[in-house]
Amino acid sequence: MKDFGFVVATALAVTLSTSAVWGQETRTFDVSLPLGPESHHAIGILSFGQELERLSEGRLTIRPHYNNALGAEREVVEGMGFGLIDMGITSTGPMGGFVDAFMLFDLPYIFTSHEHVHGFLDSEHGDMLAQRLEDEVGVKILGWMENGFRHNTNNVRALNSPADLAGIRHRTQESRVQVDTWSALGANASPMAWTEVFTALQQGVMDSQENPIPTIYDVRFYDVQKYLNLTKHVYSPAPIMMGGGLFNSLSEADQNIVLEAAAIAVPVQRAASLRMEAELIERLVELGMTLTEPDIGPFQAAVQPVIADWTPTVGSDLIDAAMNFEH
Ligand code: MLT
Repeated sequence: MKDFGFVVATALAVTLSTSAVWGQETRTFDVSLPLGPESHHAIGILSFGQELERLSEGRLTIRPHYNNALGAEREVVEGMGFGLIDMGITSTGPMGGFVDAFMLFDLPYIFTSHEHVHGFLDSEHGDMLAQRLEDEVGVKILGWMENGFRHNTNNVRALNSPADLAGIRHRTQESRVQVDTWSALGANASPMAWTEVFTALQQGVMDSQENPIPTIYDVRFYDVQKYLNLTKHVYSPAPIMMGGGLFNSLSEADQNIVLEAAAIAVPVQRAASLRMEAELIERLVELGMTLTEPDIGPFQAAVQPVIADWTPTVGSDLIDAAMNFEH
């Protein structure tokens, strides 16, 4: 009898959570995040969740899963495409493996400022990239939140010039462009999934990595890395995404609510990212990191052959449009 009661209660709960209430669906979306509940990604997803709930009058909600609890970034993108994961925020690092054009965001020194890259992402070029991910991978980008400009950290020496990377074992994201970039700079570069990076740095399997300032702080790289080098070598978006099949299964009214919630949350997240980047450099120094701001000219010069090699794959029109985008 007790078991029967449990079955009835469970069936009722499932029915209520997925069925029509006054003709409209009630639903909670599970969201994967690569960082923790205090991160710039979290600020974005919580703002999205708040707006979603408000606009849907409580019918649509989110359940965030922090620190890769639903899987590493490449698996999460695949999972959304297959309908196994509802939503996620990830960096674009693994996406060039699915759509060549996304390697634009792995090429070094393409974007020079936040205004530059935000303008580009919010233009028809960002729309085109989002459409390609939807068509080719089945993942819908709801808005271009950000990871930010990336900087090197390592445990060997300050980087005043590319020559200082000699002999350093450097972790890249799972991107051939990034491996080529750091090899051209003189490091001993190899790819590694995000979920393994902290332990690899802690155990000395890797000496070096690169990420935006809010990420370096969120995952406490200051505990395992001595040198913070402001290389600003690449800009990394962090799109907020939903499985394409899931998005298309929603009513048109709910699709609009999802898109509107994302449109409100994107500037909130970007503002938080900018604020954290400005505030946290000093905090990382207080926590013991040695700050170096190298002349980026020699870094830019060393990676020009990488841009040339990858131009046919990424597309010269797209690279030109990005570099010369008026902002
Ligand atoms: C990485 O380095 O793999 C990513 O930047 C992690 C992230 O998305 O925060």
